[in-house]
Amino acid sequence: MNEAIVSVKNLTLALAESPATLILDDVSLVVPRGSIVGVVGGSGSGKTTLGLAMLGLIPSAMQVKTGKILWEDRDLLMRGPEELRRMRGARVSMSFQEAASAFDPVFTVGDQILEAMAAHNPSAGKLARQKMFDLLSLVEVPDPRRVAANYPHELSGGLRQRAMLALALSAKPSVLIADEPTSSLDVTLQARVMQLFRKLRRDLGLSIVLIAHDLGMVERLADEMVVLSKGCVVGKDHPYARALMSAQEM
Ligand SMILES: Nc1ncnc2c1ncn2[C@@H]1O[C@H](COP(=O)(O)OP(=O)(O)OP(=O)(O)O)[C@@H](O)[C@H]1O
Ligand SMILES: [Mg+2]
Repeated sequence: MNEAIVSVKNLTLALAESPATLILDDVSLVVPRGSIVGVVGGSGSGKTTLGLAMLGLIPSAMQVKTGKILWEDRDLLMRGPEELRRMRGARVSMSFQEAASAFDPVFTVGDQILEAMAAHNPSAGKLARQKMFDLLSLVEVPDPRRVAANYPHELSGGLRQRAMLALALSAKPSVLIADEPTSSLDVTLQARVMQLFRKLRRDLGLSIVLIAHDLGMVERLADEMVVLSKGCVVGKDHPYARALMSAQEM
């Protein structure tokens, strides 16, 4: 249960063109198997960059100054791009901040999930469709057949968010990095997505890295969390973390 499935050790990322500008500054984070780990911080604090780094995607404008990113016990920065590409999705997957940008507008939602499933685990025609519907049911999409036949823009924000979760889960990852999964949703839907995360952890043993602005929401769900401020990990009692808390109480 407590074995680390992904960990980041003392990661420092700088802008390639301006190496004195640190985007992440000595950040460490451990994701134990089956746990929910929160990453909280204000806009521009480095949350998405940290999520991408855990996926082995360092933005080309940035360079690694120090640190390691481990999947189980192997340093991902030492792996070749081909190996990373194969493992990404199957090992660690990410649902992105902008649900709209995860999908290609010209294909139906169902076809895109099918394609993502097939890329890691080819299975034949009818069976594959059934698995795709099952995946949509798992993330509590009502009427999966109808939703699968829709184009991304035809879905409501809440359904598109769930469809994106299905897409992120299509290769059966051990770790899901969920970047602001509820930021575009109203409070009721936010609560349902949080319930869904609990269920996915319980039923699939999924580890979840939950990235959000909302410290209160993350605190309710996460076993552990880190607060980022300007690329640095700060304590929960840091004035910045308190400001985040009180901002929600207003
Ligand atoms: N591809 C990039 N090239 C250059 N700078 C970048 C790039 N991506 C992010 N940054 C910079 O890195 C810093 C951290 O950005 P990041 O997107 O990780 O923050 P965030 O915490 O996810 O913010 P938000 O809450 O707004 O999503 C910001 O200063 C941002 O401008
Ligand atoms: Mg972000």
